[in-house]
Amino acid sequence: MWSARGHITDIHCHLLPGLDDGPATMDDSLAMARRAVADGTRTVVCTPHMHPTYPTHPDAVHTGVARLADALRDAEIPLRVLPGAEISHLYLPEMSIAQVRRASLGAEGRWVLLEVPFRDWPPELPRIIRTLGNRGLGTVLAHPERSEPVQDDPFLLQPLIALGALAQVTAASLTGGHGPDAARTARDLIDLRLVHVMASDGHSADWRPPLIMDGLRAASDHMGTSTHHALRMAEDVPAALAAPMAPAA
Ligand SMILES: [Fe+2]
Repeated sequence: MWSARGHITDIHCHLLPGLDDGPATMDDSLAMARRAVADGTRTVVCTPHMHPTYPTHPDAVHTGVARLADALRDAEIPLRVLPGAEISHLYLPEMSIAQVRRASLGAEGRWVLLEVPFRDWPPELPRIIRTLGNRGLGTVLAHPERSEPVQDDPFLLQPLIALGALAQVTAASLTGGHGPDAARTARDLIDLRLVHVMASDGHSADWRPPLIMDGLRAASDHMGTSTHHALRMAEDVPAALAAPMAPAA
């Protein structure tokens, strides 16, 4: 059986304390970080909600990441942290394009993590993907397998992927942590080649931990021999999404 090589990049994790429904304190964040490292995660993109309920400013994310990096160093936890956000379509109109770029994965101004709501299917999603694309920003759709409309019809995702969006499946969905419908839909989307990256969507050390390996194993079991593909979803692809841009030649 293959095992974690310790190269996981988690592009969706609520690891910063005190900003949203993630950890309340720095100690809570460090407890999460220890679990992530033990699971094989090397890099976490910190993605607090940017939502009308949690109107997190990108500056608060950058400040929070710097503080967390210091605390991780002091605690000798070998985890790299980068800024990011999980942006709601309801909050996007409140943000300037400069703020959206600053809130992109790794703050590199290339990929934006867009929250897919659980109940409704916003008709403006194609327009958002096109508009961000026209500004040079790609869209990563967060946990579409947890969307009830996608659970009813997984092909709903196809036109968005055809527009160039990528989709992020949550590891706990594959292990049943978000219910049987999310588990079935996660497997369907893998079969349909409509998901590209796996992340934890971690919120806490225990209740919603920042773990990915069990989800990778479940995806790997489902795909049969394609363990390599499963690993790519948590290592190569997310690392590329959050990597620094190459300097211009
Ligand atoms: Fe999230």
